[in-house]
Amino acid sequence: MVGRLADEVAVVTGAGSGIGRRAAERFAAEGALVVCADLRGADEVAGAINADGGRAVAVATDVTSIAATEGMAAAALDAFGRIDVLFANAGIPGIGSTAGTDPADWDRVISVNLTGVWLSMRAVIPTMVAQGSGSIVATASTAAIKGIRGIAPYAASKAGVIGLCRATAVEVGPSGVRVNAIAPGTTPTPLVTETFASMVGGGGRADDERTARALEREQQRYPMRRFGSLDEVVAVALFLASDESSWVTGATYTVDGGLGAA
Ligand SMILES: NC(=O)c1ccc[n+]([C@@H]2O[C@H](COP(=O)([O-])OP(=O)(O)OC[C@H]3O[C@@H](n4cnc5c(N)ncnc54)[C@H](O)[C@@H]3O)[C@@H](O)[C@H]2O)c1
Repeated sequence: MVGRLADEVAVVTGAGSGIGRRAAERFAAEGALVVCADLRGADEVAGAINADGGRAVAVATDVTSIAATEGMAAAALDAFGRIDVLFANAGIPGIGSTAGTDPADWDRVISVNLTGVWLSMRAVIPTMVAQGSGSIVATASTAAIKGIRGIAPYAASKAGVIGLCRATAVEVGPSGVRVNAIAPGTTPTPLVTETFASMVGGGGRADDERTARALEREQQRYPMRRFGSLDEVVAVALFLASDESSWVTGATYTVDGGLGAA
């Protein structure tokens, strides 16, 4: 196999849709043996990769579960014998103000977006440390860096991901394992349309006029005056996953058309 991840074993969470799906496909095209982990849709993505001449397995995984994340790592070892890359990417929207968020909603967002990243890391780190190598990339968000109204639980969960990556990078660096975060700006996926549809209120749907207008206004806030594409986000995740970034750890890479700088 040739490619930037030739014969490396890559576990991707949230592989059933959006950024995770595109990453699973791209990593496979770069020679990786991919473990597609998601609550739903992982089978279809792994099937598409295999049909395309790549190698992938699917593992139904809830990243909030200790047993499921340990099962995900065990499935990777069963299928391919090692774990070189973890792309801890599964996430959900987290809409609400600090004063107005229901505590149960807060817990759900933190549990998927932050605890889910931690449990995924926790499940693969012993293998990576024993190998003396590995690269972990976690998906944070511009929302962790910029103050954005109306998404307090989401912002807190993603800022937590950045802190967790830094702390873990220091912990596992001596073992040859790297840990970095990406902080994407808005990249159209189901998660984004759902977030904007909810924020425009009145039961806004993904395909209604108000949602479309809100998305258009949002693009104008970007210095580059447009949203990103899945390929543009995945390109940075691939760089951090691969040996091309061999001296990069504890870093957060913004991939946001300049929004964080504005
Ligand atoms: N799209 C954007 O603009 C954007 C911007 C910044 C950060 N992000 C982050 O990127 C990541 C991917 O989001 P996306 O935009 O591709 O969204 P998406 O909704 O297309 O994909 C998210 C995937 O995560 C899976 N998932 C949700 N809860 C899970 C759980 N408990 N266990 C396992 N899998 C679970 C979903 O089933 C889904 O397949 C998320 O962490 C999101 O917060 C997205």
